[in-house]
Amino acid sequence: MKFVLLGPPGAGKGTQAANLSKRYGIPAISTGHIIRQAIEAGTEVGRLAADYIERGQLVPDETVIALVRGRLREPDTQHGYILDGFPRTVAQAEQMEKLGIQVDKVIDIAVEDEVLVERLSGRRECKACGATYHVVYNPPVREGVCDVCGEPLSMRDDDTPDVIRKRLAVYHKQTQPLQAFYRQRGKLYTVNGQEKVEDTTTLVLAAAEE
Ligand code: AP5
Repeated sequence: MKFVLLGPPGAGKGTQAANLSKRYGIPAISTGHIIRQAIEAGTEVGRLAADYIERGQLVPDETVIALVRGRLREPDTQHGYILDGFPRTVAQAEQMEKLGIQVDKVIDIAVEDEVLVERLSGRRECKACGATYHVVYNPPVREGVCDVCGEPLSMRDDDTPDVIRKRLAVYHKQTQPLQAFYRQRGKLYTVNGQEKVEDTTTLVLAAAEE
């Protein structure tokens, strides 16, 4: 299966991508995580992207598309994949179609803006493997340590209130139109992302199997 996870910043795309990945044995590909790794590594793409991320803006389409194309050439994507955070503009989705990048289902995780600010402020992330936690709603077994790989957890630089507000505005303007784009193609499945993490997981898995 080939999934796209859609939703605003903090909706739970990364959290649910990990669950779908376990369930289907296919990789979860987060463009945000790939870009943050490029920034950490100081690559040319990373240097270009850093400025956009700090301002809560989207990285240019052609840069992100090139990253995704490169990642989808890796052998672990042969039996399917979960795209978390891509496409994020109608232009990216149209380009995907032109390039023959397939999508079976688009699962849209719906959460109100007020809930998202609290979620993102309490988020902790593992820079090494990309696993995501929340200090209250989804804590790691050992405080400050990743359950998956044992590396330390940290806050993301773009999880400050000011940048969160900008990311939400960008989402409504540039990403939300993708709902209509995929609805027209009969691929959109919307789930309520305001339930507890495990209840949202049940809804996401049900949508995936529908
Ligand atoms: P990206 O890393 O994709 O960030 P995002 O879309 O803003 O989404 P988040 O990762 O913030 O949230 P999420 O929905 O994954 O939620 P999570 O599971 O972590 O992108 C970052 C930046 O990279 C972008 O701003 C852009 O600049 C650039 N970029 C990336 N892709 C791009 C593209 N295609 N084109 C251009 N630019 C691109 O959950 C959030 C928190 O809530 C966690 O703490 C979690 O534990 C908790 N939580 C999750 N579910 C629940 C629940 N049900 N109840 C309570 N808490 C919950």
